[in-house]
Amino acid sequence: MKVLVIGAGGREHALAWQCAKDNNVETVYVAPGNAGTALEPKCQNIVLDNKDTDNEHSAVIEFCQYNDIDIVIVGPEAPLVTGIIDACRKAGVQAWGPTAYCAQLEGSKTFAKEFMQNNNIPTAAYQGFTDAASAKAYVDKQGAPIVIKADGLAAGKGVIVAETTEQAHAAIDDMLADNKFGDAGSRVVIEQFLQGEEASFICMIDGDNILPMATSQDHKRAFEGDTGPNTGGMGAYSPAPVVTDEVHNKVMTQVIQPVVDAMNAAGHPYTGFLYAGLMIDDAGDPYVIEFNCRFGDPETQPILMRLQSSIVDLVTAGLAGQLPKEANWDERPALGIVIASKGYPETSSKGDVISGLPELDDQQSVKVFHAGTDFTKEVENLDININTQSANAQNDSDKEIVTNGGRVVCVTALADSILNAQQAALSVAGAISFEGAHYRRDIGYQAIARED
Ligand code: AMP
Ligand code: GLY
Repeated sequence: MKVLVIGAGGREHALAWQCAKDNNVETVYVAPGNAGTALEPKCQNIVLDNKDTDNEHSAVIEFCQYNDIDIVIVGPEAPLVTGIIDACRKAGVQAWGPTAYCAQLEGSKTFAKEFMQNNNIPTAAYQGFTDAASAKAYVDKQGAPIVIKADGLAAGKGVIVAETTEQAHAAIDDMLADNKFGDAGSRVVIEQFLQGEEASFICMIDGDNILPMATSQDHKRAFEGDTGPNTGGMGAYSPAPVVTDEVHNKVMTQVIQPVVDAMNAAGHPYTGFLYAGLMIDDAGDPYVIEFNCRFGDPETQPILMRLQSSIVDLVTAGLAGQLPKEANWDERPALGIVIASKGYPETSSKGDVISGLPELDDQQSVKVFHAGTDFTKEVENLDININTQSANAQNDSDKEIVTNGGRVVCVTALADSILNAQQAALSVAGAISFEGAHYRRDIGYQAIARED
Protein backbone atom coordinates (compact mmCIF):
# COMPACT_ATOMS: atom_id res chain seq x y z
CA MET A 1 0.00 0.00 0.00
CA LYS A 2 0.96 3.61 -0.49
CA VAL A 3 -0.12 6.26 1.98
CA LEU A 4 0.02 10.04 1.74
CA VAL A 5 0.10 12.03 4.98
CA ILE A 6 -0.57 15.75 4.59
CA GLY A 7 1.08 18.16 6.99
CA ALA A 8 4.42 19.14 8.49
CA GLY A 9 4.13 18.84 12.26
CA GLY A 10 4.77 16.43 15.09
CA ARG A 11 1.31 14.97 14.59
CA GLU A 12 2.20 14.11 11.00
CA HIS A 13 5.54 12.59 12.01
CA ALA A 14 3.69 10.35 14.49
CA LEU A 15 1.03 9.43 11.89
CA ALA A 16 3.67 8.65 9.24
CA TRP A 17 5.75 6.61 11.70
CA GLN A 18 2.70 4.54 12.67
CA CYS A 19 1.68 4.01 9.02
CA ALA A 20 5.22 2.90 8.16
CA LYS A 21 5.09 0.25 10.88
CA ASP A 22 2.34 -1.58 8.96
CA ASN A 23 3.88 -4.44 6.96
CA ASN A 24 1.44 -3.91 4.12
CA VAL A 25 2.68 -0.37 3.62
CA GLU A 26 5.39 0.08 1.04
CA THR A 27 5.79 3.89 1.10
CA VAL A 28 4.47 6.73 3.20
CA TYR A 29 4.69 10.04 1.37
CA VAL A 30 4.54 13.10 3.59
CA ALA A 31 3.65 16.48 2.09
CA PRO A 32 5.61 18.50 2.97
CA GLY A 33 6.84 16.72 6.12
CA ASN A 34 9.90 17.76 8.13
CA ALA A 35 13.42 16.48 8.81
CA GLY A 36 12.04 13.73 11.06
CA THR A 37 9.70 12.32 8.43
CA ALA A 38 12.48 12.55 5.82
CA LEU A 39 14.66 10.27 7.97
CA GLU A 40 11.93 7.81 8.93
CA PRO A 41 12.22 4.37 7.28
CA LYS A 42 9.78 3.86 4.35
CA CYS A 43 8.83 7.57 4.50
CA GLN A 44 9.52 10.12 1.80
CA ASN A 45 8.88 13.85 1.89
CA ILE A 46 7.37 15.43 -1.16
CA VAL A 47 6.62 19.00 -2.12
CA LEU A 48 3.28 19.47 -3.77
CA ASP A 49 2.88 22.57 -5.81
CA ASN A 50 0.18 24.23 -3.82
CA LYS A 51 -0.73 27.15 -6.00
CA ASP A 52 -4.19 25.94 -5.23
CA THR A 53 -5.83 29.29 -4.63
CA ASP A 54 -9.19 27.99 -5.88
CA ASN A 55 -9.22 25.33 -3.14
CA GLU A 56 -9.63 22.53 -5.63
CA HIS A 57 -6.71 20.70 -4.04
CA SER A 58 -5.68 19.62 -7.51
CA ALA A 59 -1.98 19.07 -6.66
CA VAL A 60 -2.89 16.48 -4.03
CA ILE A 61 -5.44 14.77 -6.24
CA GLU A 62 -3.13 14.55 -9.25
CA PHE A 63 -0.29 13.22 -7.14
CA CYS A 64 -2.56 10.52 -5.70
CA GLN A 65 -3.92 9.53 -9.08
CA TYR A 66 -0.54 9.31 -10.81
CA ASN A 67 1.13 7.53 -7.89
CA ASP A 68 -1.67 5.10 -7.03
CA ILE A 69 -2.01 6.30 -3.46
CA ASP A 70 -4.33 4.00 -1.51
CA ILE A 71 -5.19 6.30 1.37
CA VAL A 72 -4.64 9.94 2.27
CA ILE A 73 -4.58 11.05 5.91
CA VAL A 74 -4.98 14.79 6.38
CA GLY A 75 -3.27 16.16 9.50
CA PRO A 76 -4.01 19.88 9.83
CA GLU A 77 -7.30 21.75 9.89
CA ALA A 78 -6.68 24.29 7.11
CA PRO A 79 -7.07 21.94 4.10
CA LEU A 80 -10.03 20.24 5.79
CA VAL A 81 -11.79 23.56 6.26
CA THR A 82 -11.22 24.42 2.59
CA GLY A 83 -12.70 21.12 1.41
CA ILE A 84 -9.84 18.74 0.63
CA ILE A 85 -12.03 15.74 1.53
CA ASP A 86 -14.91 16.88 -0.68
CA ALA A 87 -12.47 17.41 -3.57
CA CYS A 88 -10.78 14.02 -3.09
CA ARG A 89 -14.10 12.19 -2.93
CA LYS A 90 -15.25 13.85 -6.12
CA ALA A 91 -12.06 12.65 -7.80
CA GLY A 92 -12.29 9.11 -6.37
CA VAL A 93 -9.29 9.53 -4.04
CA GLN A 94 -9.69 7.77 -0.67
CA ALA A 95 -9.02 10.50 1.91
CA TRP A 96 -9.65 10.37 5.66
CA GLY A 97 -11.14 13.44 7.30
CA PRO A 98 -14.34 15.46 7.61
CA THR A 99 -15.95 17.38 4.74
CA ALA A 100 -15.79 21.18 4.70
CA TYR A 101 -19.31 21.30 6.12
CA CYS A 102 -18.35 19.21 9.15
CA ALA A 103 -14.97 20.95 9.52
CA GLN A 104 -16.84 24.15 10.36
CA LEU A 105 -16.96 22.73 13.87
CA GLU A 106 -13.35 23.88 14.06
CA GLY A 107 -13.30 26.54 11.33
CA SER A 108 -15.88 28.77 12.95
CA LYS A 109 -16.36 29.17 16.69
CA THR A 110 -19.78 30.71 15.96
CA PHE A 111 -20.85 27.65 13.93
CA ALA A 112 -19.61 25.36 16.71
CA LYS A 113 -21.37 27.26 19.47
CA GLU A 114 -24.68 27.38 17.57
CA PHE A 115 -24.35 23.69 16.73
CA MET A 116 -23.81 22.85 20.41
CA GLN A 117 -26.68 25.02 21.52
CA ASN A 118 -29.07 23.50 18.93
CA ASN A 119 -28.10 19.97 19.90
CA ASN A 120 -27.95 20.36 23.69
CA ILE A 121 -24.22 19.65 23.86
CA PRO A 122 -22.91 21.07 27.15
CA THR A 123 -20.69 24.12 26.63
CA ALA A 124 -20.05 27.55 28.17
CA ALA A 125 -22.69 30.28 27.74
CA TYR A 126 -21.60 32.73 25.05
CA GLN A 127 -22.42 35.59 22.75
CA GLY A 128 -20.91 36.61 19.38
CA PHE A 129 -19.87 40.16 18.39
CA THR A 130 -18.45 42.06 15.44
CA ASP A 131 -18.53 45.45 17.12
CA ALA A 132 -16.02 46.37 19.84
CA ALA A 133 -18.29 48.69 21.84
CA SER A 134 -21.06 46.09 22.23
CA ALA A 135 -18.50 43.40 23.04
CA LYS A 136 -17.00 45.56 25.80
CA ALA A 137 -20.44 46.41 27.20
CA TYR A 138 -21.19 42.67 27.38
CA VAL A 139 -17.88 42.05 29.22
CA ASP A 140 -18.70 44.81 31.72
CA LYS A 141 -22.06 43.23 32.39
CA GLN A 142 -20.66 39.69 32.82
CA GLY A 143 -17.49 40.57 34.76
CA ALA A 144 -14.16 38.70 34.82
CA PRO A 145 -12.72 36.13 34.47
CA ILE A 146 -14.13 35.82 30.96
CA VAL A 147 -12.90 34.28 27.72
CA ILE A 148 -12.48 36.12 24.39
CA LYS A 149 -12.08 34.02 21.23
CA ALA A 150 -11.35 34.95 17.63
CA ASP A 151 -14.01 33.30 15.48
CA GLY A 152 -11.73 31.79 12.80
CA LEU A 153 -8.60 29.62 12.71
CA ALA A 154 -5.71 31.08 14.71
CA ALA A 155 -3.37 28.10 15.34
CA GLY A 156 -4.51 27.74 18.94
CA LYS A 157 -3.52 31.31 19.78
CA GLY A 158 -6.80 33.16 19.23
CA VAL A 159 -8.12 32.60 22.74
CA ILE A 160 -7.58 35.02 25.61
CA VAL A 161 -8.60 33.97 29.11
CA ALA A 162 -8.99 37.44 30.64
CA GLU A 163 -8.53 37.69 34.40
CA THR A 164 -9.79 41.28 34.45
CA THR A 165 -12.27 43.29 32.39
CA GLU A 166 -9.34 45.52 31.28
CA GLN A 167 -7.58 42.50 29.76
CA ALA A 168 -10.84 41.50 28.09
CA HIS A 169 -11.22 44.98 26.60
CA ALA A 170 -7.64 44.86 25.31
CA ALA A 171 -8.26 41.45 23.67
CA ILE A 172 -11.41 42.80 22.02
CA ASP A 173 -9.46 45.78 20.68
CA ASP A 174 -6.70 43.49 19.38
CA MET A 175 -9.19 41.35 17.49
CA LEU A 176 -11.94 43.71 16.38
CA ALA A 177 -10.27 47.12 16.21
CA ASP A 178 -6.57 46.39 15.51
CA ASN A 179 -7.14 43.30 13.36
CA LYS A 180 -4.31 41.43 15.12
CA PHE A 181 -5.75 38.06 14.10
CA GLY A 182 -6.69 39.13 10.56
CA ASP A 183 -9.98 37.77 9.23
CA ALA A 184 -10.06 35.11 11.94
CA GLY A 185 -10.65 37.88 14.50
CA SER A 186 -13.18 40.01 12.62
CA ARG A 187 -15.83 38.33 14.75
CA VAL A 188 -15.36 37.32 18.38
CA VAL A 189 -17.11 34.89 20.68
CA ILE A 190 -17.22 35.87 24.35
CA GLU A 191 -17.63 32.97 26.72
CA GLN A 192 -18.32 32.22 30.35
CA PHE A 193 -15.13 31.07 32.15
CA LEU A 194 -15.32 27.35 32.95
CA GLN A 195 -13.59 25.79 35.93
CA GLY A 196 -12.28 22.25 36.21
CA GLU A 197 -9.66 20.04 34.61
CA GLU A 198 -9.18 19.82 30.86
CA ALA A 199 -8.99 16.69 28.74
CA SER A 200 -8.77 15.96 25.03
CA PHE A 201 -11.26 13.38 23.79
CA ILE A 202 -10.43 12.26 20.26
CA CYS A 203 -12.42 9.76 18.20
CA MET A 204 -12.45 8.25 14.76
CA ILE A 205 -15.91 8.43 13.19
CA ASP A 206 -17.04 6.82 9.91
CA GLY A 207 -20.43 8.50 9.61
CA ASP A 208 -22.06 6.11 12.10
CA ASN A 209 -19.52 4.14 14.13
CA ILE A 210 -17.40 5.81 16.78
CA LEU A 211 -13.97 4.54 17.79
CA PRO A 212 -12.63 6.49 20.77
CA MET A 213 -8.87 6.94 20.86
CA ALA A 214 -7.06 6.69 24.20
CA THR A 215 -7.79 9.80 26.26
CA SER A 216 -5.21 12.53 26.67
CA GLN A 217 -4.52 15.93 28.10
CA ASP A 218 -2.38 18.71 26.71
CA HIS A 219 -0.86 21.82 28.23
CA LYS A 220 -1.68 24.87 26.14
CA ARG A 221 0.04 27.58 28.19
CA ALA A 222 3.63 28.45 27.32
CA PHE A 223 5.10 28.34 30.82
CA GLU A 224 5.24 26.07 33.86
CA GLY A 225 2.28 26.01 36.21
CA ASP A 226 0.01 26.61 33.19
CA THR A 227 0.92 30.30 33.02
CA GLY A 228 1.74 32.59 30.10
CA PRO A 229 0.12 32.86 26.69
CA ASN A 230 -1.79 30.06 24.93
CA THR A 231 0.21 28.04 22.41
CA GLY A 232 -0.61 25.19 20.06
CA GLY A 233 0.36 22.89 22.97
CA MET A 234 3.59 22.49 24.97
CA GLY A 235 3.18 18.83 25.86
CA ALA A 236 0.60 16.10 26.37
CA TYR A 237 0.11 12.72 27.94
CA SER A 238 -2.19 9.74 27.61
CA PRO A 239 -4.33 8.50 29.28
CA ALA A 240 -5.92 11.45 31.13
CA PRO A 241 -6.87 10.12 34.60
CA VAL A 242 -9.61 12.79 34.89
CA VAL A 243 -11.54 10.81 32.27
CA THR A 244 -12.84 7.99 34.47
CA ASP A 245 -15.16 5.34 32.98
CA GLU A 246 -18.11 7.39 34.17
CA VAL A 247 -16.82 10.58 32.55
CA HIS A 248 -16.03 8.58 29.38
CA ASN A 249 -19.65 7.42 29.18
CA LYS A 250 -20.95 10.94 29.69
CA VAL A 251 -18.71 12.28 26.92
CA MET A 252 -19.85 9.58 24.51
CA THR A 253 -23.58 10.12 25.21
CA GLN A 254 -23.64 13.89 25.79
CA VAL A 255 -21.03 15.06 23.28
CA ILE A 256 -19.82 12.61 20.63
CA GLN A 257 -23.03 10.72 19.78
CA PRO A 258 -25.02 13.99 19.47
CA VAL A 259 -22.43 15.27 16.95
CA VAL A 260 -22.76 12.10 14.88
CA ASP A 261 -26.57 12.22 15.03
CA ALA A 262 -26.86 15.93 14.28
CA MET A 263 -24.47 15.76 11.32
CA ASN A 264 -26.43 12.82 9.90
CA ALA A 265 -29.68 14.71 10.39
CA ALA A 266 -28.16 17.68 8.54
CA GLY A 267 -27.26 15.36 5.63
CA HIS A 268 -23.52 15.71 6.29
CA PRO A 269 -22.27 12.53 7.96
CA TYR A 270 -19.18 13.16 10.11
CA THR A 271 -16.13 11.22 8.97
CA GLY A 272 -12.54 11.44 10.17
CA PHE A 273 -10.99 12.38 13.48
CA LEU A 274 -13.06 14.49 15.85
CA TYR A 275 -11.40 16.18 18.79
CA ALA A 276 -13.49 17.48 21.68
CA GLY A 277 -11.51 19.76 24.00
CA LEU A 278 -13.29 19.35 27.33
CA MET A 279 -13.47 20.95 30.73
CA ILE A 280 -14.47 18.36 33.34
CA ASP A 281 -15.98 20.00 36.42
CA ASP A 282 -15.81 18.77 40.03
CA ALA A 283 -18.99 16.73 39.55
CA GLY A 284 -17.41 14.92 36.59
CA ASP A 285 -19.60 16.67 34.04
CA PRO A 286 -17.97 17.49 30.69
CA TYR A 287 -18.30 20.85 28.90
CA VAL A 288 -16.98 21.34 25.39
CA ILE A 289 -14.38 24.11 25.16
CA GLU A 290 -13.76 23.54 21.47
CA PHE A 291 -14.11 21.04 18.67
CA ASN A 292 -11.26 20.30 16.30
CA CYS A 293 -11.85 18.40 13.08
CA ARG A 294 -8.50 16.55 13.25
CA PHE A 295 -6.15 14.75 15.58
CA GLY A 296 -4.55 16.95 18.25
CA ASP A 297 -0.98 18.15 18.22
CA PRO A 298 0.83 17.23 20.50
CA GLU A 299 -1.81 14.73 21.75
CA THR A 300 -1.25 12.51 18.69
CA GLN A 301 2.36 11.83 19.72
CA PRO A 302 1.65 10.14 23.11
CA ILE A 303 -1.61 8.59 21.87
CA LEU A 304 0.00 6.97 18.82
CA MET A 305 2.99 5.89 20.90
CA ARG A 306 0.45 3.69 22.75
CA LEU A 307 -1.51 2.45 19.72
CA GLN A 308 -0.93 -1.24 19.02
CA SER A 309 -3.52 -1.62 16.25
CA SER A 310 -2.48 -0.56 12.75
CA ILE A 311 -3.58 3.02 12.05
CA VAL A 312 -3.70 2.07 8.37
CA ASP A 313 -6.19 -0.74 9.13
CA LEU A 314 -8.29 1.62 11.23
CA VAL A 315 -8.39 4.32 8.54
CA THR A 316 -9.14 1.72 5.86
CA ALA A 317 -12.02 0.39 7.99
CA GLY A 318 -13.20 3.96 8.59
CA LEU A 319 -13.23 4.74 4.87
CA ALA A 320 -15.37 1.61 4.35
CA GLY A 321 -17.80 2.60 7.13
CA GLN A 322 -16.66 -0.36 9.22
CA LEU A 323 -14.78 1.10 12.16
CA PRO A 324 -14.37 -1.35 15.04
CA LYS A 325 -15.62 -0.31 18.48
CA GLU A 326 -12.18 -0.57 20.07
CA ALA A 327 -8.51 -0.42 19.21
CA ASN A 328 -5.60 -2.06 21.07
CA TRP A 329 -3.53 0.12 23.34
CA ASP A 330 -0.31 -0.30 25.28
CA GLU A 331 -1.38 -0.25 28.94
CA ARG A 332 1.57 1.99 29.78
CA PRO A 333 1.06 5.76 29.78
CA ALA A 334 2.97 7.98 27.36
CA LEU A 335 4.02 11.60 27.78
CA GLY A 336 5.40 14.08 25.25
CA ILE A 337 7.34 17.29 25.92
CA VAL A 338 7.49 19.94 23.21
CA ILE A 339 10.76 21.82 22.81
CA ALA A 340 9.91 25.20 21.34
CA SER A 341 12.12 27.74 19.61
CA LYS A 342 13.17 31.22 20.61
CA GLY A 343 10.25 33.59 21.06
CA TYR A 344 7.47 30.98 20.71
CA PRO A 345 4.49 31.55 20.73
CA GLU A 346 4.88 35.22 19.70
CA THR A 347 7.59 34.46 17.14
CA SER A 348 9.66 31.46 16.13
CA SER A 349 13.10 30.74 14.74
CA LYS A 350 14.50 29.20 11.61
CA GLY A 351 17.93 27.87 10.87
CA ASP A 352 19.34 27.33 14.39
CA VAL A 353 21.34 24.08 14.42
CA ILE A 354 19.88 21.38 16.69
CA SER A 355 22.31 19.12 18.53
CA GLY A 356 21.80 16.14 20.81
CA LEU A 357 19.01 14.46 18.85
CA PRO A 358 19.14 10.75 19.63
CA GLU A 359 19.50 8.28 16.77
CA LEU A 360 16.02 7.56 15.52
CA ASP A 361 14.63 4.37 16.99
CA ASP A 362 17.65 3.63 19.16
CA GLN A 363 15.22 3.07 22.00
CA GLN A 364 11.78 1.50 21.85
CA SER A 365 10.34 3.56 24.67
CA VAL A 366 11.42 7.10 23.73
CA LYS A 367 10.74 8.70 20.38
CA VAL A 368 11.57 12.22 19.25
CA PHE A 369 8.84 13.38 16.89
CA HIS A 370 9.93 16.31 14.76
CA ALA A 371 7.75 19.33 14.01
CA GLY A 372 9.49 22.60 13.04
CA THR A 373 12.71 21.03 11.72
CA ASP A 374 14.52 21.10 8.39
CA PHE A 375 17.98 20.41 6.95
CA THR A 376 20.73 23.02 6.60
CA LYS A 377 21.71 22.73 2.98
CA GLU A 378 19.41 23.82 0.25
CA VAL A 379 17.58 20.73 -0.74
CA GLU A 380 17.77 20.06 -4.46
CA ASN A 381 14.71 20.79 -6.48
CA LEU A 382 12.13 18.45 -5.09
CA ASP A 383 9.27 19.33 -7.38
CA ILE A 384 7.20 16.36 -8.17
CA ASN A 385 6.87 15.82 -11.83
CA ILE A 386 3.35 14.58 -11.77
CA ASN A 387 3.32 13.75 -15.47
CA THR A 388 6.23 11.36 -15.22
CA GLN A 389 4.75 9.92 -12.03
CA SER A 390 7.98 10.36 -10.14
CA ALA A 391 8.76 11.66 -6.72
CA ASN A 392 12.37 12.47 -5.89
CA ALA A 393 13.62 11.44 -2.53
CA GLN A 394 15.92 13.68 -0.54
CA ASN A 395 19.41 12.57 0.26
CA ASP A 396 19.60 13.86 3.79
CA SER A 397 22.27 11.80 5.45
CA ASP A 398 24.98 14.47 5.40
CA LYS A 399 22.87 17.45 6.42
CA GLU A 400 22.51 19.12 9.77
CA ILE A 401 19.08 19.46 11.29
CA VAL A 402 17.94 23.01 12.07
CA THR A 403 14.90 24.70 13.56
CA ASN A 404 12.10 25.66 11.21
CA GLY A 405 9.21 26.93 13.32
CA GLY A 406 7.78 27.41 16.80
CA ARG A 407 7.32 23.90 18.08
CA VAL A 408 10.50 22.11 17.10
CA VAL A 409 10.32 18.54 18.45
CA CYS A 410 8.17 16.56 20.86
CA VAL A 411 10.13 14.08 22.98
CA THR A 412 7.69 11.29 23.79
CA ALA A 413 8.24 8.44 26.25
CA LEU A 414 6.32 5.33 27.30
CA ALA A 415 6.82 4.11 30.88
CA ASP A 416 5.06 2.28 33.69
CA SER A 417 3.80 5.55 35.21
CA ILE A 418 3.21 9.11 34.03
CA LEU A 419 5.96 10.28 36.39
CA ASN A 420 8.47 7.85 34.88
CA ALA A 421 7.38 8.77 31.36
CA GLN A 422 7.93 12.44 32.28
CA GLN A 423 11.38 11.70 33.69
CA ALA A 424 12.38 9.63 30.64
CA ALA A 425 11.21 12.37 28.26
CA LEU A 426 12.98 15.05 30.34
CA SER A 427 16.27 13.20 30.26
CA VAL A 428 16.26 13.00 26.45
CA ALA A 429 14.97 16.60 26.15
CA GLY A 430 17.84 17.77 28.38
CA ALA A 431 20.38 16.55 25.83
CA ILE A 432 18.76 18.34 22.88
CA SER A 433 19.91 21.89 22.41
CA PHE A 434 19.63 24.84 20.06
CA GLU A 435 19.69 28.61 20.42
CA GLY A 436 16.71 29.75 22.48
CA ALA A 437 15.27 26.25 23.10
CA HIS A 438 12.67 26.18 25.84
CA TYR A 439 10.33 23.57 27.24
CA ARG A 440 8.20 22.87 30.30
CA ARG A 441 9.46 20.49 32.98
CA ASP A 442 6.03 20.05 34.56
CA ILE A 443 4.07 18.36 31.76
CA GLY A 444 1.62 15.92 33.38
CA TYR A 445 1.78 17.47 36.86
CA GLN A 446 -1.94 17.03 37.54
CA ALA A 447 -1.86 13.35 36.57
CA ILE A 448 1.34 12.83 38.57
CA ALA A 449 -0.35 14.32 41.65
CA ARG A 450 -3.16 11.79 41.18
CA GLU A 451 -0.61 8.96 40.96
CA ASP A 452 0.62 9.99 44.41
P1 AMP B 1 -9.51 26.81 22.63
O1 AMP B 1 -8.60 27.21 21.53
O2 AMP B 1 -10.93 27.22 22.43
O3 AMP B 1 -9.37 25.35 22.99
O4 AMP B 1 -9.00 27.53 23.94
C1 AMP B 1 -7.65 27.42 24.35
C2 AMP B 1 -7.57 27.24 25.82
O5 AMP B 1 -8.16 28.36 26.50
C3 AMP B 1 -8.31 26.03 26.36
O6 AMP B 1 -7.58 24.87 26.26
C4 AMP B 1 -8.56 26.45 27.79
O7 AMP B 1 -7.40 26.26 28.57
C5 AMP B 1 -8.81 27.92 27.68
N1 AMP B 1 -10.26 28.17 27.56
C6 AMP B 1 -10.96 28.30 26.41
N2 AMP B 1 -12.27 28.49 26.67
C7 AMP B 1 -12.40 28.51 28.00
C8 AMP B 1 -13.51 28.69 28.89
N3 AMP B 1 -14.74 28.94 28.45
N4 AMP B 1 -13.27 28.64 30.22
C9 AMP B 1 -12.02 28.42 30.70
N5 AMP B 1 -10.94 28.25 29.91
C10 AMP B 1 -11.11 28.30 28.58
N1 GLY C 1 -3.25 20.49 21.25
C1 GLY C 1 -4.36 21.24 20.84
C2 GLY C 1 -4.75 21.10 19.45
O1 GLY C 1 -4.30 20.23 18.73
O2 GLY C 1 -5.57 21.89 19.02
